[in-house]
Amino acid sequence: MTFSPTHDSATIARVSLGSEHEALIAAAKRARENAHAPFSNFRVGAALRAKSGRIYTGCNIENASYGLTCCAERVAIFKAVSEGERGFDAIAVVTDTDVLTPPCGACRQIIWEFCGDVPVILSNLKGKIEVESAAKLLPRAFDASFL
Ligand code: THU
Repeated sequence: MTFSPTHDSATIARVSLGSEHEALIAAAKRARENAHAPFSNFRVGAALRAKSGRIYTGCNIENASYGLTCCAERVAIFKAVSEGERGFDAIAVVTDTDVLTPPCGACRQIIWEFCGDVPVILSNLKGKIEVESAAKLLPRAFDASFL
């Protein structure tokens, strides 16, 4: 992509951040199509950008033994980590709700431990977007620094 020379660097940073967020949201939307949610019918997609540049996606996968359900965010993170990725830049979560869906408590902990203070991008099928930092979603987080 080229930028007009009248753009200052802050503008360029905002523009490129925006398109990266959009690519992540699009990937999360596609992953949501694969959700296995026969019990809740609540379909969630997630997409995670690794520092390598690769995007890893996940959907929620439910189980008849409900507690075994795995959220879309954790599926995406575990897929990436199992592929050898370490270090992430952002995660997107997409649901079909007007009020955007934030990650559950378990996922906040996993996001914090593997991704650190990344932007958590919430979106829906209508294009509503909100961005929250992982640190704000999990104040005074417990992690390996306490061990
Ligand atoms: N779920 C996610 O996948 N991610 C979230 O952030 C919230 C909840 C899933 C778990 C379950 O399959 C369904 O949504 C209803 O809780």
